[in-house]
Amino acid sequence: MVIFGVILLAFIVGANATGCGFGYDGPLGPDHWQDEYGQCAGKHQSPINIDSSHVTRVVLPPLNMQGFFFTDGEAVLTNNGHTAMMTIDSERKPILSGGPLKGDYEFAQLHFHWGDDDTHGSEDEVDGKSYPMELHVVFFKKEYLDSTAALDHPDGLCVLACLFEVGDIPNPNYKGFGEVLPKIIQPETEAAFDVAPALIQLLPHELTHYFTYNGSLTTPPCSEVVTWIDFKEHIKLSHDQFEDFRALVNEESHSMSNNFRAVQPLGDRIVFYNVNYFEEFEQDVLDDNKVNADIEELVVESEKVIEEAVKST
Ligand SMILES: *[C@@H]1O[C@H](CO)[C@@H](O)[C@H](O)[C@H]1NC(C)=O
Repeated sequence: MVIFGVILLAFIVGANATGCGFGYDGPLGPDHWQDEYGQCAGKHQSPINIDSSHVTRVVLPPLNMQGFFFTDGEAVLTNNGHTAMMTIDSERKPILSGGPLKGDYEFAQLHFHWGDDDTHGSEDEVDGKSYPMELHVVFFKKEYLDSTAALDHPDGLCVLACLFEVGDIPNPNYKGFGEVLPKIIQPETEAAFDVAPALIQLLPHELTHYFTYNGSLTTPPCSEVVTWIDFKEHIKLSHDQFEDFRALVNEESHSMSNNFRAVQPLGDRIVFYNVNYFEEFEQDVLDDNKVNADIEELVVESEKVIEEAVKST
């Protein structure tokens, strides 16, 4: 079993190296992705700039995060030539459901996009502002069995996205990355965490406020199958913690930094903004039954708003 796992991982890493070449500048840069990957020229691409004054407020059912609080297998960080990607080798993978999602989504991997300094590096922007790094936690719809098969379905993937900003002190929840990143500076290398981080540690504290919209993978093949959930709250790392990411090297022996795609046109899409129930109802909410009825009503109303939005696009 262990041997099989190693071979499989070697295959995935190898496939990345030899197969689909893409990069972030020159002839393999984003302007040329569509030559080989037609979907990259689609009308519902990611990332986007989120204009916070043009979002539709909704109250969606709570996000349900199973297996986010403890990781019971080994967590491995891989330099795949494009990013630092964490996978979990465990029988029981974290499962995400609720919010805008229909059905269960299983954890596939998480990875980062970052800049060569603290002024840029994120993929999504909010009100035209870029951030030094962005985390993508990628899930595939469980009924499609794996993340490759999921690419053939419009609801195949969900990505939890978090923006980073610079803080004064090191973030203890990201300490493990500081230990593992120096071991994977070269492409096609990987190393295990001493202690596998729990997903919840890597996310912001406040998970109710988020933007959600339908978009694509931000790397080839740019498949338009992603329900994006972009948390409003940012994660803070110290400048030195970002520098650990910036030390990584890609296949051209260049710095991997600036591995982000530019924002794409929003087109006819609508960005939804999830708020909590209490912000929408100011009245006395001591009666639990009333609260539950109101929440149900709001969720139904939000679903209608989304349906209407879909019809008009
Ligand atoms: C987003 O995509 C899902 C899956 O295809 C679809 O059910 C939903 O209606 C879409 N939402 C919007 C707002 O377009």
